[in-house]
Amino acid sequence: MPPLASRGGPPVRSTFLPVARPSIGPREKALVLEALDSGWITTGPKTHELARRIAEMAGARHAIAVNSATGALHLALVAHGVGRGDEVITTTWTFAACVNVIEHVGATPVLVDVEPDTLNMDPRALEAAITPRTKAVLPVDFAGHPCDLDAILGIARARRLPVIEDAAHALGAAWKGKPIGSFADVTAFSFYATKNLTTGEGGAAVTDDDALAERIALLSLHGMSRDAWKRYGDSGSWFYEVVAPGYKYNLSDLHAAVGLGQVERFAEMQRTRERAAARYHARLAAIPEVRRPVVRPGVTHAWHLYPIALELERLTCDRARFIAELRAENIGTSVHFIPIHLHPHFRESLHPREGAFPVADDAYARALSLPMFAGLEERDVDDVCDAIEKVVSHVRR
Ligand SMILES: Cc1ncc(COP(=O)(O)O)c(C=O)c1O
Repeated sequence: MPPLASRGGPPVRSTFLPVARPSIGPREKALVLEALDSGWITTGPKTHELARRIAEMAGARHAIAVNSATGALHLALVAHGVGRGDEVITTTWTFAACVNVIEHVGATPVLVDVEPDTLNMDPRALEAAITPRTKAVLPVDFAGHPCDLDAILGIARARRLPVIEDAAHALGAAWKGKPIGSFADVTAFSFYATKNLTTGEGGAAVTDDDALAERIALLSLHGMSRDAWKRYGDSGSWFYEVVAPGYKYNLSDLHAAVGLGQVERFAEMQRTRERAAARYHARLAAIPEVRRPVVRPGVTHAWHLYPIALELERLTCDRARFIAELRAENIGTSVHFIPIHLHPHFRESLHPREGAFPVADDAYARALSLPMFAGLEERDVDDVCDAIEKVVSHVRR
């Protein structure tokens, strides 16, 4: 093996490969121009059409397009009446948004540990964390692998607790043949720049419940009983009433235009991710210092991320050095996630007990996410695997 790039050797790649890159085609650009030329650039026909398409993809009766998954999760909590004195159970292996929104409604986030293989909510930990104050359960489909919906929904339904599923990573995923979005009371999707379907910034809340859908739609735009599109359109009237202190979470038609182009290309983009995941899986099988992500039986993985775990016992370096060595080889990686209980704010607000999350703590020491995006080519995946092989050959114990 040649010397590491960090020691002056030639890097595996001559150009940097980022961990994620959006895939924007001519169709997205044409639809944005169409919106710009239409005279309607805020929430309007394109936003409503995107919501309709997302509901279809998610197998749900309703979708409300909003400006982030964070907004969708927040609205789901408000629509369920979650507030002060209530507890909401989520996992420590997630993004801050999930926990922030619980704090925003004045409720107490209760963190539970995850399952070692998927890093999704451990149903036994969920069951143990339920108290008379529990008002909702907020599991996450980490990396695009659905959480154990049979177990989690079973536990929640038995106690009449709503499940608000954070599927920010999981548009296109399925559980036992049915799309994610067709199980929980409300499912939140993200259309952030790096997500499987992007609008730059954006998201959606989907549900089968007519009343919840109406409440979420109302809360997403100031609590007004009619949105501006209907007020100023051909069929509209000037009259509206504010019936709740709503939020300003609506998506614009400019963003929705990008999303509609992405909807048309979604199946093809997912196939690219699947091919990349299969190639990683085959190549990394030959590197015992690296643990590959699992796909449980009955699951369609959305492959938003390709997270691996380092077998640190076989290496002379830690995860931070491994990332730095790959960076020097021109391979970008990231860490999903820094567990919630390790952040300064949540240490202060939640007072997590030392050692309360052994699975997440162990996973955090080993975790890194490899490049995964719709434009990733086979030779890119090979570069990543070559770089991992090279680094491992220098730091093997
Ligand atoms: C698990 C999870 N939930 C929620 C979010 C928030 O998504 P958004 O940026 O659309 O608000 C993210 C963002 O990356 C995420 O990873």
